[in-house]
Amino acid sequence: MILRDMTEADLDAVAVIEREVHPHPWTRGNFSDALASGYQCKIAGSAQQMLGYAVMLLGPDEAELLDIAIAAAHQRQGWGRKLLGEMLGLARRHQMRRVVLEVRVSNTAAIGLYRQLGFADIGLRRDYYAAENGREDAILMGCML
Ligand SMILES: CC(C)(COP(=O)(O)OP(=O)(O)OC[C@H]1O[C@@H](n2cnc3c(N)ncnc32)[C@H](O)[C@@H]1OP(=O)(O)O)[C@@H](O)C(=O)NCCC(=O)NCCS
Repeated sequence: MILRDMTEADLDAVAVIEREVHPHPWTRGNFSDALASGYQCKIAGSAQQMLGYAVMLLGPDEAELLDIAIAAAHQRQGWGRKLLGEMLGLARRHQMRRVVLEVRVSNTAAIGLYRQLGFADIGLRRDYYAAENGREDAILMGCML
């Protein structure tokens, strides 16, 4: 897997994947803002194509993973695990102490991935996300580096 910086030229393709895999997707503008804000925005690819991407915010000593996705056709082949591993390595190289994230309680695929890579539950945010029928809780997870 090749990891490279996301650029504006990637955003149409990123937005297509995002709409494909997320029930409540980020917009192209959200990714553009993330780039402009200097967040760590990475594209995961093979030599042939874009497999997925991740966006992470580096704070003074703690990083927050804001988005991670693998295109539907490439899911369940270990790419998410590889990409998250690369993002944790990136945070470590920036001397981050911990990586935190929020995830929908219903997102069993992502929760399984995070647990596999060493994330543990550190809190629950009630009614954090908009959902089909009202609101949905978020689990706050953290991984010490
Ligand atoms: C979460 C996501 C990135 C995982 O990527 P992936 O490449 O399919 O995951 P991997 O193949 O590396 O799987 C790693 C582990 O995640 C868990 N997992 C992944 N997909 C799963 C699924 N459909 N159901 C249950 N567990 C799943 C498993 O624990 C898996 O390990 P295993 O294969 O040994 O059982 C992918 O499902 C995705 O893009 N989802 C939509 C976007 C999203 O929800 N992002 C996270 C919130 S921002």
